[in-house]
Amino acid sequence: MKILLVEDSRAVAVVMAARLASFGHDVVLAENGQIAVEKFRESAPDLVLMDIEMPVMDGFAATNQIRRIEEATSAWTPIIFLTASNTHDNLITAIEAGGDDFLAKNWPESILQAKMKAMTRINTLRQRLAKNLEQLTETNRNLADTQNQLLQSQTMASVGQLAAGVAHEINNPVGFVNSNLGSLQGQIEGLLKVIAAYEAADPAIAAHPALQAAITAARKSADLDFLREDIITLMSESREGLARVAKIVSNLKDFSHVDNADWQFVKLEAGLDSTLEVVGNEIKAKAEVKKEYAGLPDVECMAAQINQVFAKLLVNAAQSIEGRGTITLRTGRDEKEAWVEIEDTGKGIPPENMKRIFDPFFSTLPIGQGTGMGLSLAYSIARGHHGRIDVKSGVGQGSTFRLTLPLRRPAV
Ligand SMILES: Nc1ncnc2c1ncn2[C@@H]1O[C@H](COP(=O)(O)OP(=O)(O)OP(=O)(O)O)[C@@H](O)[C@H]1O
Ligand SMILES: [Mg+2]
Repeated sequence: MKILLVEDSRAVAVVMAARLASFGHDVVLAENGQIAVEKFRESAPDLVLMDIEMPVMDGFAATNQIRRIEEATSAWTPIIFLTASNTHDNLITAIEAGGDDFLAKNWPESILQAKMKAMTRINTLRQRLAKNLEQLTETNRNLADTQNQLLQSQTMASVGQLAAGVAHEINNPVGFVNSNLGSLQGQIEGLLKVIAAYEAADPAIAAHPALQAAITAARKSADLDFLREDIITLMSESREGLARVAKIVSNLKDFSHVDNADWQFVKLEAGLDSTLEVVGNEIKAKAEVKKEYAGLPDVECMAAQINQVFAKLLVNAAQSIEGRGTITLRTGRDEKEAWVEIEDTGKGIPPENMKRIFDPFFSTLPIGQGTGMGLSLAYSIARGHHGRIDVKSGVGQGSTFRLTLPLRRPAV
């Protein structure tokens, strides 16, 4: 056993050390509390025999510091105080200072052995407890993870149903309002032409003062000149708003139709290239695109959906870049999985947003620009493929989104 012996009297220390050595122990000597703390750190003893009254730092203060060192590592080393006399007062003070026991300086070997045995027993129990606690903590963590995943998938499932319902209900009215607005625009143009034609008759009407007064009053109260311009603006704004609603509905439909499509073996890299062509303009304006393809084998997936994931990730990458940047497309694989990475040099994702980016409707884009459905759609497509999306990001350092898919559709 390695014993740290703390004793200020050189003579006493030498005698004790010799005795301990004769029982087969390794002895490390310290002549005051401060040195004891240093040696404790260096030598990690199994037991500390601690004198109480010492220069520089006494035994109680040294014990206090040792206990503080141990707190950080949740370790525990028995500390036995060495006292000149066996009084109760000494015993109480020793224990209260964080010691575990005390021993008169003229101890017989048998007593020391017995006390060490007791300490070892306590330590074994303590270690067993610590291990149990660790297992419990681990179990608890797993439970929390599972609960999170359950919640997440429940949320996604119910959002999917909700989305399908909402999209279905909204699609029809959006359709006829849009077509009505189209007709209305033509009809308004017609009406304005008729009004212009009547206006051409103004000189003739001047011969009928009563009629002219009525017409002028009506024109004034309708504010005809303003109305003529404003009606055009109103129409175009309404159609723009409606187009936005239609885009949300189409996103919701994509989102809810996640699980009916055909599985086939496809080249992911080719899919990525063709998706890049489709969303190309948005990307080209913002970034130089680099490709680091590993040459993936064909992967079994629902290609149209996977291309949608690529599109959402590519557009997000471009949107994250202020000014100009680089988007790197990277692929790789192991025996079971293939992955596609889209890395940008954009503004990155702040840690507090990290948890929310996959939530439906979470968006940091300016109002009206993002539906916040991109990543939640991508996430549910990845899950539908028994795959996943991992994100690495640092504010000001860019982000990397990695889609990982099993090479083959797992038997469910
Ligand atoms: N590559 C990226 N870099 C930085 N932030 C990102 C990146 N990708 C996603 N985000 C963050 O996650 C949010 C959610 O993304 P998501 O694609 O779901 O919605 P959106 O892009 O805001 O809107 P939509 O895709 O519907 O147009 C974004 O608003 C943005 O804050
Ligand atoms: Mg997006």
